[in-house]
Amino acid sequence: MPDRLSYIQAAKARAEKLAMLTAYDYPCARLLAQSGLDLLLVGDSVGMVVLGYTDTTSVTMDEMVHHTRAVARGARDGGDGPLILADLPFGAAETPALALQNSKRLMEAGAHAVKIEGGRSHAAHYAALREAGIAVMAHIGMQPQRVRIEGGYKIKGRTPEQADALLADACAAEQCGAFAVLLELVVPTVAASITGTLKIPTIGIGSGPDCDGQVLVLHDVIGLFPWFKPKFATQRANVAGEIERAAKEFVNAIKAPAES
Ligand code: KIV
Repeated sequence: MPDRLSYIQAAKARAEKLAMLTAYDYPCARLLAQSGLDLLLVGDSVGMVVLGYTDTTSVTMDEMVHHTRAVARGARDGGDGPLILADLPFGAAETPALALQNSKRLMEAGAHAVKIEGGRSHAAHYAALREAGIAVMAHIGMQPQRVRIEGGYKIKGRTPEQADALLADACAAEQCGAFAVLLELVVPTVAASITGTLKIPTIGIGSGPDCDGQVLVLHDVIGLFPWFKPKFATQRANVAGEIERAAKEFVNAIKAPAES
């Protein structure tokens, strides 16, 4: 895995943008692994777009392990291209020791690296994982696992104080050994400035075009979760519509078979 990791880290020096999508199951991971993506994220968004929870805070470690295993099998059969990154869900990184224990479970399930929500608050966690040889991405800006405490998905970096705090979070993650920083819902000019300051890559979601890479939830890109469409995600297919069409066609074929 050092190869994929060094490729991802060197991409910044080459000014090559990184592309990352989420994956939660075998067929999607197998298809996505053949698409040239640099990273596949087994995101805890699985809770919302696959398991029907209202937010990510209900996702368990067992669920993350289950989906990581499926994605690892799919990526292997799809050519083993992208780096598989798995989220530590809510409560799974409360202490550095717990983060290490749970990261090992995700690595055993087939992840190549893990992602943790938090900046300076989690500096010791990043250092502990780095020390144990586990590659970790820091997730700052809007942290979906804090949605209940914050009362919604709010844009970060609107004030100079918030912008300074985000930069301090990103720098702490870099100094403590994170291999990349994910910036979610960060004001684009602030995301650009963090990207310009860090040596490690930034991956943005809803944070403007100037991050070193971009990530989206697969279901938003392929139109498989029509009940919520984030403004920043371009939908490039209508899989939900195709499922409805095929199911109706099947029902009609069974209930009113065409005469031969
Ligand atoms: O869980 C997830 O899908 C994420 C997104 C920000 C990409 O972390």
